[in-house]
Amino acid sequence: MNALVSLRNLRVSFDGQAALRGIDLDVAPGEAVGLVGESGCGKSVTWLAALGLLPAKARVTGSATLQGQELLGAAPAVLDRVRGGRIAMIFQDPASSLNPVIRIGRQVEEALRLHRGMQGAAARAEAKRLFDQVGIPDAARRLDAWPHELSGGQNQRVMIAIALAGRPELLVADEPTTALDVTIQAQILTLLQDLRRETGMALVLISHDLGVVADSCDRVCVMYAGRIVEQAPVARLFEAPTHPYTNGLLGALPPLDGPRRRLAAIPGSVPEPWAMPKGCAFAPRCAERSPACDIAVPGAVPLAPGHQAACIRATAMGLLKETVAA
Ligand SMILES: Nc1ncnc2c1ncn2[C@@H]1O[C@H](COP(=O)(O)OP(=O)(O)OP(=O)(O)O)[C@@H](O)[C@H]1O
Ligand SMILES: [Mg+2]
Repeated sequence: MNALVSLRNLRVSFDGQAALRGIDLDVAPGEAVGLVGESGCGKSVTWLAALGLLPAKARVTGSATLQGQELLGAAPAVLDRVRGGRIAMIFQDPASSLNPVIRIGRQVEEALRLHRGMQGAAARAEAKRLFDQVGIPDAARRLDAWPHELSGGQNQRVMIAIALAGRPELLVADEPTTALDVTIQAQILTLLQDLRRETGMALVLISHDLGVVADSCDRVCVMYAGRIVEQAPVARLFEAPTHPYTNGLLGALPPLDGPRRRLAAIPGSVPEPWAMPKGCAFAPRCAERSPACDIAVPGAVPLAPGHQAACIRATAMGLLKETVAA
């Protein structure tokens, strides 16, 4: 795969506590990748680290390349061109991302000036086109609205318009629908799909909801406690989930048919960075735990094309396959 973005052994620690513990991830041009996991597992930090957006106290190591160009430690001028230009990010809290005292049209025009050198009437016309593209009704008039005059869903569309202003090759959307009600959520996800088709950009969709990414992505990465514990093409993940944590997330999805039942939440919580188990971080919550799980962190085991899982049960399956093949 000729990756657009490659993360290799990406590690982040805050005050000596590891928050990311070695992320390896490729995003191909035009591909949609979902990143799922419970709160605190490192979904946002992964992309903030790659884009150089973490506070100075964060210690970041490893590599994050954009078509071969290293981003970690790159000069500010390089990062300024990449951020919002080649890679755009929609941040987790849309309310705090729009400036409340600047009309929304101006905020889009500012992004156009920064990333495409557009000004005046040309920027205004392009801002209107972007508002049309993201489905803001009555776009010409809405350019002069203030953020507080729009609904949450419309503000999210403005955020997407700003993200599109630099014609990004990759859009990282961090929980773009969490704050929205269900109908609006679905509309925003459909919009992201349509935009991806129209523009050919790649998409990384971050969510704690496996259902959301399954509908919108080609491939899913499941994160737990600062690592990717399983990744697979969407259909494969649903057919053959291997990591018990993935199974736990699947168990928490409402069934499409059949009677309504209580959702099976995974008991327990994600370990804090300072209380990370020596072996598998999920072991304390895992129904399939065995003594070997506590000895060492399991590595990612390839199970099928594009499918790998970091669980000793996967290691056993891999060995079994090799034995059968031999
Ligand atoms: N600026 C920071 N200073 C210290 N610790 C941080 C900082 N940002 C993140 N962390 C820690 O890094 C870990 C990963 O956080 P991150 O925000 O990436 O989680 P997340 O998966 O995006 O969660 P959520 O679903 O709640 O957004 C957490 O333990 C968090 O407390
Ligand atoms: Mg987050």
